[in-house]
Amino acid sequence: MKTRITELFGIQHPIIQGGMHHVGLAELASAVSNAGGLGMVTGLTQRTPELLAREIARCRAMTDKPFGVNLTFLPSVNPPDYPGYVKAIIDGGVKVVETAGNNPQKWLPALKEAGIKVIHKCTSVRHALKAQAIGCDAISVDGFECGGHPGEDDVPNFILLPRAAEELTIPFVASGGMADGRSLVAALALGAEGMNMGTRFIATQEAPVHENVKRAIVAASELDTRLVMRPLRNTERVLSNAAVERLLQKERELGAAITFEDILPEVAGVYPRIMQSGEMDAGAWSCGMVAGLIHDVPTVQQLIDRTMAEAHALIHERLAGLAR
Ligand SMILES: Cc1cc2nc3c(=O)[nH]c(=O)nc-3n(C[C@H](O)[C@H](O)[C@H](O)COP(=O)(O)O)c2cc1C
Repeated sequence: MKTRITELFGIQHPIIQGGMHHVGLAELASAVSNAGGLGMVTGLTQRTPELLAREIARCRAMTDKPFGVNLTFLPSVNPPDYPGYVKAIIDGGVKVVETAGNNPQKWLPALKEAGIKVIHKCTSVRHALKAQAIGCDAISVDGFECGGHPGEDDVPNFILLPRAAEELTIPFVASGGMADGRSLVAALALGAEGMNMGTRFIATQEAPVHENVKRAIVAASELDTRLVMRPLRNTERVLSNAAVERLLQKERELGAAITFEDILPEVAGVYPRIMQSGEMDAGAWSCGMVAGLIHDVPTVQQLIDRTMAEAHALIHERLAGLAR
């Protein structure tokens, strides 16, 4: 399938794996790229720029196809060494960066000068327009369904994608709630030129996470996610568990007075315990409503191949048949 997204990134299929903390390691990113999609190494999961440089080299050794690096710009009192991470990306010869969080404007000149394509992930049309205006090459439009940070506007993809199509001139992919060929065809119909998946890629053989995480996603329904940190305007969609219920209880009790410190036990440093050790109640971890559509743990190649086969069948058989 050929779209402006496949052309821009030099990939076979318009399928991107979004950056995921403690999931987006070289194993998963290279598997996605080898299967014809665009894999993404998650920058900040590597504690230092030196470690990121090593992870990029590891990914390069596992694939000769294009892959990207996610750089998430978080509001932070002690920001990570962003200049160091950007340098590691440029020196590592990476050709695609997925930015997310705050406006990436400050980093664009250096990335552009190095010939790097930038896809910015955002949750509103106004932020997408801003990203387009400052020179981003593409947008990942993240709807309210998404795992991770859906923003504060709560606009689901059935509205957000066609709204983005009305306003943007650069290509965009649909992100949030994407699972299979049906998602891809729907996204294309709504104006996107590909899709970005997070949660779906965690439940694959190659995802370097504990089996308990994959089992939890397969077991979960579309009713099992919760929104946490709403009162802090840092909303995150996570899978419900004991820690999340405790966190929500604190939010109810403390109301507007709640601070980040109050919920540190449920959110700080919990990812390694969940993703590597499989302690499923250790804290809040991002997961999309799309868990309700995930029923198996295929290889990445199987997932991408069947997604594309489904998409082609939908377009050429079901939809073509309906249009006759
Ligand atoms: C476990 C997990 C961790 C994530 N970590 C990040 C991250 O560090 N940076 C980022 O930009 N997005 C992150 N995301 C969001 C994904 O890149 C993607 O936008 C989102 O998962 C799409 O929604 P979906 O889960 O419905 O496919 C994360 C998502 C998950 C599920």
